[in-house]
Amino acid sequence: MLKDKNIIVGVTGGIAAYKAADLVSRLKKEGANVEVIMTENATKFVSPLTFQTLALNPVYKEMFKEPRNYDVEHISLAEKADMFLIAPATANVIGKIANGIADDLLTTTIMATKARVVFAPAMNTNMYINPIFQRNMEYLKELGYEFISPGVGMLACQTYGPGRMAEPADIVEYVKNSFCNKDLIGKKFLVTAGPTIEPIDPVRYVTNHSSGKMGYKIAEEGQKRGAEVILITGPTHLTPPEGVKLIRVNTTMEMFNAVKDHFDECHVLIKAAAPLDYRPEVVSDVKIKKKDTEKDELNIKYIRNPDILDHFGNRKKEQIVVGFAAETNDLVENAREKLQKKNLDFIVANDISRDGAGFKLDTNVITIIDKAGNVIDYPILDKGEVARIIIDKVKAMMENKS
Ligand SMILES: Cc1cc2nc3c(=O)[nH]c(=O)nc-3n(C[C@H](O)[C@H](O)[C@H](O)COP(=O)(O)O)c2cc1C
Repeated sequence: MLKDKNIIVGVTGGIAAYKAADLVSRLKKEGANVEVIMTENATKFVSPLTFQTLALNPVYKEMFKEPRNYDVEHISLAEKADMFLIAPATANVIGKIANGIADDLLTTTIMATKARVVFAPAMNTNMYINPIFQRNMEYLKELGYEFISPGVGMLACQTYGPGRMAEPADIVEYVKNSFCNKDLIGKKFLVTAGPTIEPIDPVRYVTNHSSGKMGYKIAEEGQKRGAEVILITGPTHLTPPEGVKLIRVNTTMEMFNAVKDHFDECHVLIKAAAPLDYRPEVVSDVKIKKKDTEKDELNIKYIRNPDILDHFGNRKKEQIVVGFAAETNDLVENAREKLQKKNLDFIVANDISRDGAGFKLDTNVITIIDKAGNVIDYPILDKGEVARIIIDKVKAMMENKS
């Protein structure tokens, strides 16, 4: 994925410098050529030898030293870079760049480059929320410098809050995404994900096992390929992909209304959610109490929710509408019927009783059936790969239409 990419990793003097070793190792595994520039203070946290060994390249530190060759190092590194990744980025280095200070090899090289510069800040929470730091970061963002948000958690200084450097795996994902082919710029995607919940009383509700993983992966894939993505999600435990517009809903009716609000402005609707078909006819506004009798029963009458896919499939104009069919039997037959009835462009069917398929897993086993009658079976695949296949098919259909 990162083959032939020159990534210059800048390591600065924060405690998260040890995580940069993992980052460099991961970038190498993705095929990147990695060169490391360390600040003087960074070398107090981790030895340059660690980075030299992982990157299989010399580590740069000093600006004024006998040249290894006749290139001026800060200029040659600045020119060859496809991306600068400063991880961890101290408050100090961000402040220096924001104020035009170039007093060591790293800051001078960043100042001299035309490549993209990405900072992964890491610092104590009070430093992070300090208005001076925030102002420096906002100013750099305005100028086009990129930031990978730090996580919230327990920091090395024993305080809890934002400031923890993003995990190396997530930073690598960010880097990979940013080199990804942006073939969906100008397209607007509406993606639904997760279950819905229907309240019974103020403390109880009914729901299903949908995890939202498939819909989130589709939203992420669309977003990284340049589409504007609105993700309408029921309750899940997932972290939403960066850069998508997130709309959280609880009930099927709320999901229906959210889709209605945005459907007309979208080119594509992908309905990966599993909204509940029924809801209790009456929702008690006080907690339903059990009775102390042996024959105590609770009978709830359920009424139909709107069928979101059917509604919008049958009202679409130019949009591509994609549905999912989670089945336990007669997969292709049931999915084909759904495709026709709901006027879909294609349907992604999966037999949730098969090994490797199902709501909570990271993999899926799918069959895609389109309106032209093509049926394609896929082997067990990671949900990210399934998302790519779905988005590729949507893109091919959009191209055929235009
Ligand atoms: C043990 C220790 C940990 C530090 N951790 C951080 C940190 O996580 N983030 C930060 O911005 N500064 C941190 N600092 C302060 C920086 O090292 C200091 O601002 C230094 O000037 C940064 O230099 P550099 O940006 O040139 O690498 C830490 C200092 C010490 C002594």
